[in-house]
Parts: sequence; C-alpha cells; structure tokens
Amino acid sequence: MQKFYKIVTFGCQMNVHESEKLAGVLESMGYRATEDETQADVVVFNTCCVREAAEQKAMGNIGALKPLKKKKKDMIIAVCGCMTQEKKRAEEIYKKFPFVNIILGTHNTYKFKEYLEQVLATKKRVYQVVPEEPCLPVEVESYRTSGYNAWVNIMYGCNNFCTYCIVPYVRGREKSRPMEDIVAECKKLIADGYKEITLLGQNVNSYGNTFNNGKNNFAELLRQIDALDGNFNLKFLTSHPKDLSEEVVKVIAESKHISHMIHLPVQCGSDRILKLMNRNYTVEHYIKTIEMIRKYIPDVNLSTDIIVGFPTETEEDFEMTLDLMKKVQYNTAFCFIYSKRTGTPAEKMDGQVPLATKRERVNRLLALQREIEKNIFNRFLGQTIKVLMTSRKEGKVLGKTDCGINVIIEGVKEFKVDFVTVKIKDIKNTKLIGEIVE
Ligand code: 5AD
Ligand code: SF4
Repeated sequence: MQKFYKIVTFGCQMNVHESEKLAGVLESMGYRATEDETQADVVVFNTCCVREAAEQKAMGNIGALKPLKKKKKDMIIAVCGCMTQEKKRAEEIYKKFPFVNIILGTHNTYKFKEYLEQVLATKKRVYQVVPEEPCLPVEVESYRTSGYNAWVNIMYGCNNFCTYCIVPYVRGREKSRPMEDIVAECKKLIADGYKEITLLGQNVNSYGNTFNNGKNNFAELLRQIDALDGNFNLKFLTSHPKDLSEEVVKVIAESKHISHMIHLPVQCGSDRILKLMNRNYTVEHYIKTIEMIRKYIPDVNLSTDIIVGFPTETEEDFEMTLDLMKKVQYNTAFCFIYSKRTGTPAEKMDGQVPLATKRERVNRLLALQREIEKNIFNRFLGQTIKVLMTSRKEGKVLGKTDCGINVIIEGVKEFKVDFVTVKIKDIKNTKLIGEIVE
C-alpha cells in the first residue's frame, strides 16, 4: 500500500531547501507527498528558532497532532531543524510531547533515513541532538518542490555572532562546500531545465574563507557559474554589509546571468545600535557600499532586513533607521520586531524595549516602506523588461521580474516556463501588468 509523508516547514529558504532534502530521503524510501495529515504515515516538522513567534507556532502545530496520533498510532512524527538544536527546547519537546517519535538537531539531519528505519523497526523514540562536527554535512539528493527555481547550498553556519541572533549557536561555524561540487550541481540543474538558481548561505561573501587560499572565492564561484551554458538567472542570499566586496559587485555587473538584485540586511540606521548588535560596520560604510553598488549596477534592486526595538533603542535611534530607509529606497524591506533569544548576548542587555513601542515602530517602518515601494513601482511604467513566465491561472499568464516582482503578462500565444520580453503598461496593487513584445 502507498505510504505518504507531510513536511511542515518554518523559517528561511535554507529550511525550505533542507525540507527538499528530507523529502528526497522519504521519496527514496517509497513515500509520496500529501498535504493531508490524516493521510500521512510520516509527519515532519522542520523548525526555526530565529524569533519567538516561529517557535510558538511550531510548538502549537506539534501539540495539535496529539488527537490524530491517538487515532493513528502507527503515524511517525519527527521534529527537526534549528529549534530542536536548542537543548532546552529539544528536552521540552521530549517531555511535553511523548507522542513525537524522532527529535533531531541540525547537525545530523542527513541521518534521517537511519533514524526513521530505527523507529519503524523498534518503535522506540529517537532523540539525537548532537554537537557540531568539524566536517561538512553529507549532501543527500533533494526532491525539489520550488518549481522553476532550484536552491543550492554553498555554505553552512555563521561566524558573525550578531548579538541578537541564535543562528551561530544552532547552525555552527562556517563551512563551505567545494567549488567544483557546487558548479557541477548548477550545471546539472540547468540541464534539467531549471530557469533560476539561488545560492544559499548565511553570509555568502565569506564563502571559501576556510579554504585559506587568499582568494575572493565567492567572486570566483559566481564567475564560474555565470560561465555555464544555458538560459538561467542566478541569485544568492544573504550578503553581509561588512563583507560585500567591489569585486563581487563588478562580477554581477559584467555577468550574463546574475540577477541585478542584492539582499543587504542593514538591521538598523543607528551606529550606536549597530555597535551593540556587533555588526562591524557603520551607517556611513553601508551608504558608501550602496553608492558603490549603484555605480556599477544602476538598475539594481535592493532589499534589506531591519530589526526594531533592539535593547536601548530610542526614538532618535529609530528615526535614524527611517532616514536610512528614505535614503536607500529599498525595493523590499523585511521588518522584524526584536525577539529575545536565549543564550545570545542581547538577551542579558539592559534597556529591553516594551512590546507596544516595538509594535508602533514596526508599523511606522512598514508604512514608510509601502510609500517607497509605490514610487519604485511607478518607475516600471513604460519600461521594457525581461520576465520569466512562471504559471497560467484562470487564463492569465503570471511571471516574475528579475528581482521577483509579480507580473501579469498579456498577449501570450503559447505558455511555457521561459523568459519573455514584456512592456509594462499598468500597475495593480503589488503586480505589474505588461504586454508581451514579439
Ligand atoms: N529578533 C528579530 N529578528 C531577528 N533576526 C535575527 N535574529 C532576530 C531576533 N532575535 C532577523 C535579522 C536577520 C533575519 C534573517 O532575521 O534581521 O537578518
Ligand atoms: Fe545571524 Fe548575523 Fe549570522 Fe546573519 S550574519 S545569521 S544575523 S549572526
């Protein structure tokens, strides 16, 4: 009889891709995907711990499976990812949810198959939250679910220790995959028909620092992938403002395939707060970097992450963030309320900001960003741009610009996932409307 699995993913693109690897393992064991948990023989929660809200949501979702598990005693429930790498949380899950069969940290996810077989054979619970090992995790075959886009890990972990962030504690130290392995994976993905490749790392600019060869390895990696034959877009996440180099920006400007978009999280517009955050750059350095990027890539699309309400943030500090947003004019800004994370230096800092103040500030930030986005959208009117046709729904063809803006494409004779040239003639909410240009 056919067996089914359901994977519930929380958090960032790294986790989305890791879920594709878990799916790869389950598919190889003969399971098939389902959205319906009552049909599932295996349910996996791939968790995130970057903010409290993500943890609460995962805990709620796991708890909600208790009645189903009572009825379906053979159903296997597994919890893995960043949240289970936190010892306190993993122990809490173990005690609070005795119906969870597998608890797995981040450093041995690749052994999921072994643990699942163990549970199936012995019916005994598996609790495997191990410390980090010095080697790279074993790569397992992905079962890709993100359509025309393929995620590719280039490195794991982070060495930056921003004082608010839990990632370095649950993902360990930076480790880079060999360049030839990454290039070979990209080559295969292009041959398989993927139109977009997104390279993933917590801090892609330090890719290959552990190779100790004195080279700008990230620039070289981009060059090598860009030189591959085929019709594809290349993207990457995430850059750190202290490390993004002129060489990398030049490679993007001169490339054939690299999208003109850079995600450059600034986090805050106040030097005093940036210092407390251990970000290792100043607002002046950040603005100079933006100017340098715009010099080489005038049509660049910039996005950022911002945290409001970091300990001791005053109204003046916050207004500096608003000023910086006005100056830079981001295409997209992901705005977060500071969330206290156990074990990080900021957890113990004096001057925690009340939730009401944080909420009020984030709303002001979002309102400003909406205004900026409206202005940026207006600039697309009348422009002729390259768009990737991605889907057809109710007779309408949808696509995405190079930097991920949704476009409704009119005048398409034959739909297939491919690049087309489109003239933008209207704007509707958050979508551009354009006509195909022959
Ligand atoms: N609270 C709020 N936001 C956080 N981020 C990381 N840690 C925290 C935290 N403790 C945000 C940062 C980072 C993004 C991925 O998540 O802005 O760039
Ligand atoms: Fe967290 Fe900073 Fe590393 Fe990003 S660079 S993952 S914010 S510690």
